[in-house]
Amino acid sequence: MNQALAPAGQAGQAGQAGQAGPTRPMLSTTLRMEPYEAQAWVVVDRMVGGLAMGGTRMTATVTEQELAHLARAMTHKLALVGLPIGGAKAGIAPAPGSPVQRPELMREFGRAAAPLLHGGVYLGCDQGTTYADRQVAFEAAGYDVAHRQGATRLTVGWDELWTHMADITGYGVAVAVLGALHAAGTRTPQRIVIQGFGTVGRAVARHLADHGHRVVAVADIRGTIEDQHGLPVDALTEITSSDGTVDRTRLPATVRVHSSGQAWLHVDADVLVLAASASAVREDTVPEVRAPMVVEGGNMSCTEPARRLLRESGHIVLPDVVVNVGGAAATGCVLAGIAPSGLPLPRLSAWLRAWIAARITRNCELVQELHTSGSTDPVAHLLTAKGAWYSAGR
Ligand SMILES: NC(=O)c1ccc[n+]([C@@H]2O[C@H](COP(=O)([O-])OP(=O)(O)OC[C@H]3O[C@@H](n4cnc5c(N)ncnc54)[C@H](O)[C@@H]3O)[C@@H](O)[C@H]2O)c1
Repeated sequence: MNQALAPAGQAGQAGQAGQAGPTRPMLSTTLRMEPYEAQAWVVVDRMVGGLAMGGTRMTATVTEQELAHLARAMTHKLALVGLPIGGAKAGIAPAPGSPVQRPELMREFGRAAAPLLHGGVYLGCDQGTTYADRQVAFEAAGYDVAHRQGATRLTVGWDELWTHMADITGYGVAVAVLGALHAAGTRTPQRIVIQGFGTVGRAVARHLADHGHRVVAVADIRGTIEDQHGLPVDALTEITSSDGTVDRTRLPATVRVHSSGQAWLHVDADVLVLAASASAVREDTVPEVRAPMVVEGGNMSCTEPARRLLRESGHIVLPDVVVNVGGAAATGCVLAGIAPSGLPLPRLSAWLRAWIAARITRNCELVQELHTSGSTDPVAHLLTAKGAWYSAGR
């Protein structure tokens, strides 16, 4: 193995999992959202080369502390793919009990966040916000990626690029699975279970099915849909709403429907992809996990103790900050001017996919190598190994 990556004791410079770098964010600010009874924050974990980036989360329960954690995870994701950009995250908590007033709320958010956007803090989409919301905020802020100095010159609008690249995070997760299966010497079609059939879950399902694997179960918020012969991914996608709920009234007769909360955990499979909410696999549920490979398509899909226990009990774990970086990496490549300028959309898309696939595949290999050579926290060690420019930008 690469000597620079050899685990030197169990705590690398990066410290405990997910704690690399200073413990507090560089900037954490509250936005004034009058006249809306909403709270909003922007947290910048760190700026690197004058840039930071992350999504805007809109949930009833989002807190500044949660955002600090997510901004740090963004710093890690970007460092792991080698992008010279710091992590950030924004959050909007609408007033409890009152309907969310869109687009007014996003407009106000854009106006309040304008100095940060223009100062190099890119705020995209995250849980609870859509491309349309992002567009409203950018317009209110007078912000356009196309005019950012040093960014890649695009031949299409930001919106059109993202409509085309909507599957990119799921694509990256699928690439990670394919690479890990290949590295494990697996050459036959595998049985895949996917918890979460939203933007990420659907894209993972499609890409893995396209490579001949069998999606034997998918779960949404209402339960699990299973067919050990393989689910018809395209047909299932057609009867799924944009929020990722499958229409039970239009399912093929061949499928089994489980309404119990965690039936996806008990389906016989080779690969379990988690693409729903955080902490889907906890310490107490580890013994129930059947699939030998567990993939964190969502953020923090496994709790930290669960991730460690899974590895100790022989599962291959592909961690979130390594595999679900597709959307962030594509944005970062454009913001930092790493993607070539002036390419027509299909060529830009192909360039971004190849760039992302190469880095995710390599990082998955390194995580596995570190685990095999005794690291209990391969991500922390990998971050330490990538530390030179990453630390310099603090
Ligand atoms: N969309 C992206 O580009 C992106 C990028 C990085 C990380 N993520 C993370 O990936 C995860 C999924 O994101 P998404 O954009 O696909 O979300 P989404 O809202 O489009 O879909 C979420 C899916 O999970 C299902 N779900 C929710 N709770 C569930 C439960 N308890 N059991 C089973 N299914 C449940 C929903 O029904 C839906 O099918 C989130 O953690 C998100 O933060 C997304």
